[in-house]
Amino acid sequence: MTLRRSILVGGLTLAALVTAQSASVAAASSEGHHDRGHHHRGHHGSSPAVPADSLRALAAKVGLRTGVAVNTDLLGADRTYTRIVNQQFSTVTAENVMKWESVEPTRGTYTWAAADKLVASARQNGQLVRGHTLVWHSQLPAWLTLGVDNGSISKAELRRLLKKHIQDQVTHFRSKIWQWDVVNEAMDEDGTLRNSIWLKNLGPGYIADAFRWAHEADPNAQLFYNDYNIEFTGPKSNAVYAMVKRLKASGVPIHGVGFQTHLDTQYGFPDLQANLQRFADLRLNVAETEVDIRTFVKEKEPATDPKQYTNIPVSGLAQSAQEAYWSQSLQACLAVSRCISYTVWGVADNSSWIPGVFPGEGAALLYDDKLKAKPQYRVLHQDLKLAAGAPYRRGAGRA
Ligand code: G3I
Repeated sequence: MTLRRSILVGGLTLAALVTAQSASVAAASSEGHHDRGHHHRGHHGSSPAVPADSLRALAAKVGLRTGVAVNTDLLGADRTYTRIVNQQFSTVTAENVMKWESVEPTRGTYTWAAADKLVASARQNGQLVRGHTLVWHSQLPAWLTLGVDNGSISKAELRRLLKKHIQDQVTHFRSKIWQWDVVNEAMDEDGTLRNSIWLKNLGPGYIADAFRWAHEADPNAQLFYNDYNIEFTGPKSNAVYAMVKRLKASGVPIHGVGFQTHLDTQYGFPDLQANLQRFADLRLNVAETEVDIRTFVKEKEPATDPKQYTNIPVSGLAQSAQEAYWSQSLQACLAVSRCISYTVWGVADNSSWIPGVFPGEGAALLYDDKLKAKPQYRVLHQDLKLAAGAPYRRGAGRA
């Protein structure tokens, strides 16, 4: 408790939180007029009732959007899940269905249905959409990777295919996407570009090309570079910083950087605010795009082989560490006026990617396996309320 309170006090001494950073704030926004960095000119449906004490409504008061990665199999099918998505969050991201393997599983045949459904639901619920993702080394269609491996797709053809993929997809969703993750996870931990299918075959210029191609297809979308482990200052974060600085200086249409923020209580809390701020100082928007905070969890009883795990933290200390991390991750965004959205990577622990990839860890989201709000939810709720009540925030809001 003491720990949390001191963190909170620290956060509230932060510099002015909301400044009207752009004159082009869309009048149509359904989330109030403190909407930071909203350059989107799409239409917004009038949203169904959003409870005044939801994360979404509280964040709107301080000019921030809360977002969530959506599993489109659950949206519309599970009532509680759907209610949480639409009441608590003002932006949505497709967790998987906008990735290349999902939209073009067979060469030349697009399957937009699941993504279209999400975009339609967002419109109905007055939400904006983060498009995720156009250029990534993972979740590529088999026809593409096999074709490159067996030489039937040449380098020149691969470049044409990438351009077509980006432009077809951005055009399909033109004016319906607020932020696109144009390039995802292109940097390695040591600060060199990842030796991906893209770097190997197209050279480093593919990154600038991708942004230019996306911008041609939808000049109103905010174009983001998105990555993980850039929350900590280090070789990776420094290299991404240098890269986006160079891109911007050479006139490439890049508008923001997404900090995925997949945190783990065993590694300490990163100097996230400082990193968000130095990128923002390049006159780029920033966002936390995939927040989840994992910790070690209890084994199921009776013990099984291989081991199976619950989503219950191993100790009270693990639980309070998570709460502290949630609080600090939100406050870091609140403290940086160019931090325009705070997106969590899923609704509930039982549909999170974490247990599948980090066995023995979990409990990384805001809702438990029964879709009941966890203490983590109340931490965010309280921080948003405190932020709205801070006098200097009201002053900033008027500016
Ligand atoms: O759709 C197939 C299904 O047909 C099949 O039966 C099943 C069997 O494994 O797999 C299903 O595909 C899974 C897919 O999610 C859809 O559920 C893949 O195996 C699984 O690997 C895939 O995981 C996704 C992962 O990206 C892929 O790398 C996670 O859901 C998704 O949360 C995760 O998201 C990424 C972001 O895009 C980028 N940043 C990191 C983040 C976490 O890894």
